[in-house]
Amino acid sequence: MALFQSSTRIIPDAPDVPRHIAIIMDGNGRWAKKLLLPRVAGHQRGVETVREAVKACRELGVEYLTLFAFSSENWRRPEDEVSFLMQLFLKMLEREVEKLHENNIRLKVIGDRSHFDDKLNQRIAEAEQLTVNNTGLTLTIAANYGGRWDIMQAVQAMLRARPELSEGFSEAEFEPYLSMHYAPEPDLFIRTGGEQRISNFLLWQMAYTELYFTDTLWPAFNREALQAAIQSYQKRERRFGRTSEQLRGKQAHANGQAQESGADA
Ligand code: IPE
Ligand code: IPE
Ligand code: MG
Repeated sequence: MALFQSSTRIIPDAPDVPRHIAIIMDGNGRWAKKLLLPRVAGHQRGVETVREAVKACRELGVEYLTLFAFSSENWRRPEDEVSFLMQLFLKMLEREVEKLHENNIRLKVIGDRSHFDDKLNQRIAEAEQLTVNNTGLTLTIAANYGGRWDIMQAVQAMLRARPELSEGFSEAEFEPYLSMHYAPEPDLFIRTGGEQRISNFLLWQMAYTELYFTDTLWPAFNREALQAAIQSYQKRERRFGRTSEQLRGKQAHANGQAQESGADA
């Protein structure tokens, strides 16, 4: 299992195609409003965009795609919108899981499930179980997720399992209890919909993630838009605390080695 590798302790690779993309899918309501439709029509259209994004990520060789579907603060929305979103999540699980499985996709759901009804929790468990051994893309849906919730639940779970750590513990001892312990930290974070904030998403995990914000509303975020985000990421210099000169030195060294062995530099 590819375990969480902390960017504050080791210097991770900076792959050309991000291994892990995390997205805040924002702007559904505004998309619908522009077309004089009810907000929920935007959520419905947003599901199409999820399908497209999953397909594109598989084809591009992204290993982990993490989508923020419902935040721990979204309960503050009108009751009928919350209930629509829950129904939509349930329907998606019922309709899409077989297809995910056929495509060798492993599905994971992170977040506090204690407020979901039994039926939804059962479907989530079945979907995770069905796809657990798949080796293609890992698709994580963050539902009733909050970055602070995650850190708090991890501390509590760690102390329950290892009470001796109450005297003090390291990052390495703590990280296995975070809900995304099975994935590397996100390389690229995308937020659609124009807001430039994290909204309590993966707070711990995004220590060194490259951030990309776009005005495009989620229902309009197509494959080209995703590729533009990846291209922006590819132009970044990921220093992880080092200097540019150190990185250029490393690059020159690598090129020199390639030339010596007769390969194209
Ligand atoms: C994101 O779209 C979807 C969820 C938060 C569930 P919004 O519903 O936040 O859309 P806007 O931001 O109001 O346009
Ligand atoms: C963030 O979107 C959460 C999701 C996309 C699920 P919001 O639209 O709820 O975020 P804020 O409230 O504008 O920050
Ligand atoms: Mg929003």
